[in-house]
Amino acid sequence: MTALELQDVSFSYDGKHKILDGINLRLPEGSVTAISGKSGCGKSTLAMIACGVIPKAVLQGKLTGRVLVFGEDISGKEIYETADKISMVFQDPESQLFAPAVVDEVAFAPENLCFDGETIAERIDAALSTVGMQDFKDYPPNKLSGGQQQLVALASILSLEPKIILLDEVAAQVDSQGVALLQDAVRALKAQGKTVLIIEHGRVFEPLCDRKYEMREGRLYNAEGDSCEKR
Ligand SMILES: Nc1ncnc2c1ncn2[C@@H]1O[C@H](COP(=O)(O)OP(=O)(O)OP(=O)(O)O)[C@@H](O)[C@H]1O
Ligand SMILES: [Mg+2]
Repeated sequence: MTALELQDVSFSYDGKHKILDGINLRLPEGSVTAISGKSGCGKSTLAMIACGVIPKAVLQGKLTGRVLVFGEDISGKEIYETADKISMVFQDPESQLFAPAVVDEVAFAPENLCFDGETIAERIDAALSTVGMQDFKDYPPNKLSGGQQQLVALASILSLEPKIILLDEVAAQVDSQGVALLQDAVRALKAQGKTVLIIEHGRVFEPLCDRKYEMREGRLYNAEGDSCEKR
């Protein structure tokens, strides 16, 4: 089954300059995919469109084409409506962590969706154990290393049990120990059958990926260098 599909997606922030130019991408359920590319080529924009963060009030622009999540067009949906299917971890962990303790961070999303206490507790344990952070429940996130903070940010979206997870440069500001922890977390997601899209400069996750694309000037190219702009 196809988990995520972008059909002929083009996007411009200002209505003139195209950041994405006819992107076609299909992620089979359970696949792990890497997209690399130079700074500014549009990788984060693509990820934010795929999970519905763009276009929204704070990040507007002209979007054409379709984004399908398990066959369903997400245009017009609010983020909270799709966050249990597709969710994203951003490059900068500090922008996503705000709670006084790790456990509150991971509890935030299921609490907001009004799950019962027992379910929330189960979700927290499962999410923290997937990322190997179960011993840090009561730690303040700002006392953790950069890599551990990214693991908590990942756990905080895993508590909604999304089937598709987008990781945007999560290892960019992390030391080698943190990178190893993040690689373990990606292996755990893969073992759970999650569909993972990894955006990165550094290529540290590439060995874990089944599919690799490079982005250049708003277009995707596969490993053979063929453009994916036409279906
Ligand atoms: N909110 C915005 N408004 C206008 N232009 C933007 C906005 N965000 C990004 N851009 C521009 O869109 C282009 C693509 O940016 P994007 O952040 O998607 O690239 P990227 O490949 O993720 O880069 P990096 O590797 O540095 O994270 C860049 O030219 C950037 O300046
Ligand atoms: Mg980026």
